[in-house]
Amino acid sequence: MTKEKINKLLKDVQVLAVICNQWGDTGKGKFSDYFASEWADIIARGTGGNNAGHTVVIGDKERIFHLIPAGIVYDKKGKISVLGEGMVIDIKVLLEELKELKEEGYSYSNLKISKYAHVIMPYHIEQDKAKNLSQKKGGIGSTGRGIGPCYADKIRRKGIMIKDLFDRETLKKKISDIRSYYPNLKIEEEPILEEFGQYAEKIKGYVCDTGQLIRQAQEEGKKILIEGAQGLLLSIDHGTYPYVTSSDCSLNGTANGVGLGANKVDMVLGIIKYPFMTRVGGGPFPTELGGQRSAEYCSNDEYKKEYELKKYGVPHKIVGEKAKYDPSDKKIIEMINSSDEFVQGVGIRLAAGEYGATTRRPRRTGWTDAVTARYATKINGPLFILTKADALAGADKFRICFGYKKGQETLTEFERDINILDKVSPYYKEYEGYDDISKIRDYEELPASLKESIKDFEDFTGGKVVIVSVGPERDETIVRDLS
Ligand code: IMP
Repeated sequence: MTKEKINKLLKDVQVLAVICNQWGDTGKGKFSDYFASEWADIIARGTGGNNAGHTVVIGDKERIFHLIPAGIVYDKKGKISVLGEGMVIDIKVLLEELKELKEEGYSYSNLKISKYAHVIMPYHIEQDKAKNLSQKKGGIGSTGRGIGPCYADKIRRKGIMIKDLFDRETLKKKISDIRSYYPNLKIEEEPILEEFGQYAEKIKGYVCDTGQLIRQAQEEGKKILIEGAQGLLLSIDHGTYPYVTSSDCSLNGTANGVGLGANKVDMVLGIIKYPFMTRVGGGPFPTELGGQRSAEYCSNDEYKKEYELKKYGVPHKIVGEKAKYDPSDKKIIEMINSSDEFVQGVGIRLAAGEYGATTRRPRRTGWTDAVTARYATKINGPLFILTKADALAGADKFRICFGYKKGQETLTEFERDINILDKVSPYYKEYEGYDDISKIRDYEELPASLKESIKDFEDFTGGKVVIVSVGPERDETIVRDLS
């Protein structure tokens, strides 16, 4: 069934990009897996590093990948997984992921790592942690994985590429040259050379010019899936700067990062969560439930899932290190319907399990913002995948933001200027809530209010919703018949 639906949707498509149109964490992992399993020959990532975390559910197991594209689980079918040249790679983390895959019985013989990708060095991580501009103090609240410093070195032409690891003299010189940029850190060449020399041996067989490989595959008519990381609103070029990551996670940056021009991409599917959305880390979020109170609260790493379950009296069990609970527990539904927006936001977080895959931080929650989605159609294209709509089952009402109020004005075009975004308040349209939709497979059978909101969303954004995800499993997916 899945295969039929995909073949129909991707009839004339050879290069498909699946990217996020919000602040990340919209469920790219599920859709990367969806298209990798039944369609793609090559699955490639082009931006970011292990700041990302894709959650993929296979059978009854949940897996989180930070670096490797979710398609690696189809390695045995001969599918090629690529870590592209726009990425920044922490090799230690990569080796851990590979080890874990092997232990679980997966192979990775068709993995390809770009020789031009940049390497996250220990001093990048140290610098990121030291300068992490803690979100608590109103800062960005980076993931602390060394992403920003590594990209900074790349831009100032001092970066270390994967290929440099195979050339001891170049590597030694580069490390010695970099010292002046990190005056507060003790950078010793020998231990680094030793450590990275060993890493180089381990990854040697997988390194190549992946851009060339992908361009050739494209010419040969192979099916290529480009998997985005983070999201448009976190893009260094199109996001809410400086509250962004350090790569361009738009279509352009993502295609660039795998070595293709964006004009080579035949279809772009932009994922958004709907009718609620999330943000991790600092920065503006006009529709946030609980506003500033929520932003400050979510900057505290201690308010993890277990804390919230206990505080709000939601029945749960701790199994191993994980809290198990029923996301549709009546206590959570009560919270989603609370008149206190902050509590409503916590309720949505618990109902949808919105805690960082990489950092476990509580994600900030709010209503879906069609103004940012409209902006996304203009940069990434008009097609949308909506995810997590099922998580709001039991809510009496939901809202979608169709404009920002700024004094007497109503803005309908997104401005990424944080000074403007901090001062606007959302203009909402409210809709009737709905019950469980996870068993629905036909778009027409979705609740009338949800369809009405989607129609309004499409009219406002000029986009088209092609897929609605109604659960984490591959099968829990509605592909709309647009013919
Ligand atoms: P960095 O990418 O670690 O430098 O973090 C910069 C900002 O991007 C922080 O606000 C992070 O929370 C956010 N960020 C980075 N990666 C992700 C992601 O995969 N999902 C959501 N937010 C992210």
